[in-house]
Amino acid sequence: MAKAGTQKISGVSSVPDKGVRIRDMVIDDIPAVYYLGVKVFLKEKDPFLYRTWETYEVTGLFYSDQELCIVADHLGQVVGFAMGAVITKPKSPWTYGYLVWTGVLPEYQGKRVARRLYREIERRVRGLGARMMIIDTEGTNLKAVRFFEKMGFHKGSAHLWMTKVLKPLTGKTRQRSSIKESITRSLKGQ
Ligand SMILES: CC(C)(COP(=O)(O)OP(=O)(O)OC[C@H]1O[C@@H](n2cnc3c(N)ncnc32)[C@H](O)[C@@H]1OP(=O)(O)O)[C@@H](O)C(=O)NCCC(=O)NCCS
Repeated sequence: MAKAGTQKISGVSSVPDKGVRIRDMVIDDIPAVYYLGVKVFLKEKDPFLYRTWETYEVTGLFYSDQELCIVADHLGQVVGFAMGAVITKPKSPWTYGYLVWTGVLPEYQGKRVARRLYREIERRVRGLGARMMIIDTEGTNLKAVRFFEKMGFHKGSAHLWMTKVLKPLTGKTRQRSSIKESITRSLKGQ
């Protein structure tokens, strides 16, 4: 029997795990990665991920940190992805790796696809000189919390996301970069 707190959360299908390969993301993968995210970042389960996931997340990271954008490919279909960034701070000797987004199609979950994606990102980030890896996820996203714990992460201090519904401005408003992208930029000191 699984130890308390380590049992699988939700079931897994019988899709074969053989033949899933990890490769660099290419420009043609952008729509598939975006739509995969739409399938896994669900409003009911992960409202923050759902709200912040948008096409700019994919195109922005592909533009800024392409070598940290990878996919899991099964017979030509994108079944998982991981996108990261490297953060350096002026006057600091530390370089950080940040796994910004990762997701695996539900029917491919439980096949160690995310583990392979994560390990490849970590390998690349280490090659870029990072000495610490950072992730963030909602505390209620237990699948992700278990996954990251298994990858060796320890809980940091609680980081609270708060929301407030805003009334629309009158006149033209323009949308800019997403929240996660803004965080990455501010951590990078840009
Ligand atoms: C979190 C997620 C990426 C894990 O993908 P996955 O391919 O199923 O994970 P893996 O099969 O590689 O699991 C590796 C380890 O993580 C843990 N784990 C993964 N899914 C788990 C689950 N549902 N319940 C408990 N532990 C789980 C296990 O310890 C597992 O090790 P094991 O195979 O020895 O049991 C996937 O559930 C997902 O896409 N979730 C929605 C998107 C999301 O929340 N992304 C993270 C924030 S950006």
